[in-house]
Amino acid sequence: MRVSVVGQGYVGLTITEGSLRAGHHVLGFDVNPRVLEGLSRAKSHIEGISETVLREGIDSGNFRLSGDASTLDGSDVVVIAVPTPLDEQGKADLSLLRNASETVGKSLRESTLIINESTSFPGTLREVIAPIVGGSGVTHRYAVSPERVDPGNKNFGSRNTPRVVGGLTDEARSQAAAFYQGFCDHVIEVSSPEVAEAAKLFENTFRFINIGLVNEFAQLMAAMGIPVDETLAAAATKPYGFMPFHPNVGIGGHCIPVDPFYLEERAREFGLSSKYIQVSDELNKSMPKFVVNRLEQEVGKPLAGLRIRVVGVTYKANISDTRETPATAVLQLLRDRGAKVSWHDPLVKEWLGEQNSPLDDADLALVLVVHDALDMSGWKGGQIYTVNRVEKHPDWIPLISVKSRY
Ligand SMILES: NC(=O)c1ccc[n+]([C@@H]2O[C@H](COP(=O)([O-])OP(=O)(O)OC[C@H]3O[C@@H](n4cnc5c(N)ncnc54)[C@H](O)[C@@H]3O)[C@@H](O)[C@H]2O)c1
Repeated sequence: MRVSVVGQGYVGLTITEGSLRAGHHVLGFDVNPRVLEGLSRAKSHIEGISETVLREGIDSGNFRLSGDASTLDGSDVVVIAVPTPLDEQGKADLSLLRNASETVGKSLRESTLIINESTSFPGTLREVIAPIVGGSGVTHRYAVSPERVDPGNKNFGSRNTPRVVGGLTDEARSQAAAFYQGFCDHVIEVSSPEVAEAAKLFENTFRFINIGLVNEFAQLMAAMGIPVDETLAAAATKPYGFMPFHPNVGIGGHCIPVDPFYLEERAREFGLSSKYIQVSDELNKSMPKFVVNRLEQEVGKPLAGLRIRVVGVTYKANISDTRETPATAVLQLLRDRGAKVSWHDPLVKEWLGEQNSPLDDADLALVLVVHDALDMSGWKGGQIYTVNRVEKHPDWIPLISVKSRY
């Protein structure tokens, strides 16, 4: 089949790779020339994508790249995977999705299977995408399959992560399911696109809330002088009815901090609101302050004037993504307290308009994220603190889990 993937980011490139492996002719479509330029040299800007698969696709002519919308015409399947962020007021920002839908609608002259992978609230395929794409008068088939990719996860990729598919018609749903069966072992068909869209939001809201719960629990344990890491490990020995979540300096990335607010926004249209989402948001956002307070407590004096190197600024280990990273709040809090802060991250060249600093020395280091590529052997400064205990560095002082007072 001729598969066009609109948006060649974390999600789109994953589908591109899966489609190439399944033997399709793939058009990678993106509005960012830098993305197209890199991919045309088989250079992936996304961790975990096989450059060998990209290279083989380019050499065989199966993988083409374009920013010219007219190239979408003639596709059998168009997959849309563009960002769905929050705007400055914290509201769902569908502008890029609308834009992509317009581009797709204007370019296709024949009926095509359109699949949305971008995360959004239930009703988006039916009420937003289909009317825009179909506005040009062609009758297309519409399906949705919200992406579940976990960038950097070595155990779960597109082959073994089950995929949920819903369609506006039975035909669209079963065609989309057949498409995904080409590179995914488990495809689950559901009765409507709204079920698929809502399931995705619930999955990430579930994580958001449970992380909020465990972050609150960590603060309670610290106040009581009980080590939360040992407590959670003990709780996790229960073989049923318990799923471990781990406290951290906050949440980040394009999904967990964003998706619950898409659910909240839709709920408001029905005169409802989720209390869990609001309170979990407060708890997750309280963690940078909790960690900085704990740092001050461990240092034993105010942080003003101290030279602090914050290490690892992405939102999680082994990826270069700094979107919504809680490191932003940590840096701000440390600077507000008068510390002289710079940052180091082996995976990030530039962030917040600042350049990556070499490790060398400072009065102390605060390690937020431990990438496999992080090498602290060049560190000539003072004590190293970390948010969570790092087994291979027992000399680093963890801040979230406290020493037992018992
Ligand atoms: N990142 C993740 O881990 C993840 C996981 C599951 C779902 N999602 C969802 O997938 C969607 C895409 O997220 P992402 O992380 O892949 O984003 P991304 O920023 O990594 O990539 C998006 C790409 O789309 C391109 N783009 C933007 N507007 C376009 C347009 N009109 N036409 C063509 N290309 C356009 C951008 O240039 C960019 O290269 C979002 O809805 C997100 O919530 C993301």
